[in-house]
Amino acid sequence: MAKLILDGIDDYIERHLPRRPDVLHEMESLAADEDFPIVGPQVGQFFRMLAASTGAKRVFELGSGFGYSAVWFALGMPAEGEIVLTDHDGGKLERADSFLSRLWLNGKAELLPGDALAHFRAAKGEFDIVFNDIDKQHYPEVVELAHERLRLGGFLISDNALWHGRVLDDEKDEATAAVDEYNRLIAEHEGFENVILPVRDGLSVARKIELDESLWLPGVGD
Ligand SMILES: C[S@@+](CC[C@H](N)C(=O)[O-])C[C@H]1O[C@@H](n2cnc3c(N)ncnc32)[C@H](O)[C@@H]1O
Repeated sequence: MAKLILDGIDDYIERHLPRRPDVLHEMESLAADEDFPIVGPQVGQFFRMLAASTGAKRVFELGSGFGYSAVWFALGMPAEGEIVLTDHDGGKLERADSFLSRLWLNGKAELLPGDALAHFRAAKGEFDIVFNDIDKQHYPEVVELAHERLRLGGFLISDNALWHGRVLDDEKDEATAAVDEYNRLIAEHEGFENVILPVRDGLSVARKIELDESLWLPGVGD
């Protein structure tokens, strides 16, 4: 993956993260061996802190792989928390279950093999955090679905928001155009406030707000 941040800076940030369970190191090695994309420890630590600081009790993940990002969320959630993992590769979810079990986190997890968007459409109740990491061409579909399913003040987070820097390309392939469209939809959505953090491959963080909340920002609507 093309890096958006200098290697030295990335390493520096990682050296200044808190200690993490060995299981997470093992999952990182597995991802490297299999060349499988995971969010990595910087984003993971952010997820744990976000879940803990918002008291998140319900998290929905679209595209969970073998559960690395889900482990981080679950580590920050209270004992009664619930996290839904989805992936169309059921074998990956079985591995996720085994990793979660080793950290006694599997009691919080519901594993749903199949199309993440179909499961998300069928999901009942409100979520505190929605994490989107599916195939990029489907990103724009997630915006309204997530807005409907998040509680007020809840977060929609999407990985790969800068897509290796390709969002700046004049000629965009399908995946890049979809990520770019997602970023536009979020930025223009009156029901979200947002920021794209240039961590790893870019992390879009959006918070659900009252539809007229933006009117109260100083200088807006004067
Ligand atoms: C980038 S990986 C997920 C990594 C994981 N979030 C982590 O950081 O540990 C993307 C995963 O999403 C799955 N996926 C992609 N599109 C999907 C879809 N529409 N429905 C279900 N799973 C999907 C892929 O099988 C893959 O395992």
